[in-house]
Amino acid sequence: MTTNTNDELAQIFEGWSSTVGKPTLKDNARMTTRGVDVFYGEKQAIFGVDLDIGKNEVLAMIGPSGCGKSTFLRTLNRMNDTIDICRVKGDIHLDGDNIYDKKMDVVNLRARVGMVFQKPNPFPKSIYDNVAYGPRIHGLVTRKAELDEIVETALQKASIWNEVKDRLDQPATGLSGGQQQRLCIARTIAVSPEVILMDEPCSALDPIATARIEELIAELSENFTIAIVTHSMQQAARVSSRTAYFHLGRLVEVGATDKIFTAPEHRLTEDYITGRFG
Ligand SMILES: Nc1ncnc2c1ncn2[C@@H]1O[C@H](COP(=O)(O)OP(=O)(O)OP(=O)(O)O)[C@@H](O)[C@H]1O
Ligand SMILES: [Mg+2]
Repeated sequence: MTTNTNDELAQIFEGWSSTVGKPTLKDNARMTTRGVDVFYGEKQAIFGVDLDIGKNEVLAMIGPSGCGKSTFLRTLNRMNDTIDICRVKGDIHLDGDNIYDKKMDVVNLRARVGMVFQKPNPFPKSIYDNVAYGPRIHGLVTRKAELDEIVETALQKASIWNEVKDRLDQPATGLSGGQQQRLCIARTIAVSPEVILMDEPCSALDPIATARIEELIAELSENFTIAIVTHSMQQAARVSSRTAYFHLGRLVEVGATDKIFTAPEHRLTEDYITGRFG
């Protein structure tokens, strides 16, 4: 069994400069990150990550607990801004716009890059009002009929419409966990994001609800770009086309999902996917 002590890892990462695989895409990148470092106070959590997320791809991010997956994901829609001690360096672009530019409207950015969290977090409002919330605050509609249509379409795309169409005025908190998570996905979709970030979206769900969300991810990838953090390698294999392996804040390896899981090029990746580490 191969495990690495922290000293050995420090050695592995000494002079670390390259990622195995192709972190950058030529023509179809929707988001690009270059030289991204993240600090919490003095402590550095992410080291020089270069990674592109392609249009309409599902990119999975995997790696041992504490390796920085959530931290990196949060840099992509500036969710880290909400953490006082957190500082982000490097360049992150969305369709050519520098998202850390002073002129960037962060509320608008978070509509363009939506996020679905580990635990479903519907607002304590009706099912309808949860989905209508974004379109309302972003002033996307003026007429009730338009809003009704957006709400219905988002719920359909999130494959929950049939379960809720007769109870739209009831509290969202009355739904099951899996339904709540699909509602949260509908809420994200309702503002037509370019990218959807998902941080372990199924970890609070049972296997049936998980399967529904995984099917949904496949459907959504036709229209949206998705980056998903998951602890489940089976899930990464099922839903993603590319997988990025993170280790101690570094992007170790990225490539086609089937290649990462069958013929990884880096020992750290291999140790993780074969269960020898993490
Ligand atoms: N708000 C915070 N303040 C200080 N340190 C933090 C904060 N959030 C994360 N960290 C630290 O940053 C590092 C990366 O954490 P992160 O939560 O991004 O890892 P992760 O890969 O998502 O882990 P997990 O798989 O357990 O969710 C860890 O060392 C963690 O302790
Ligand atoms: Mg995490």
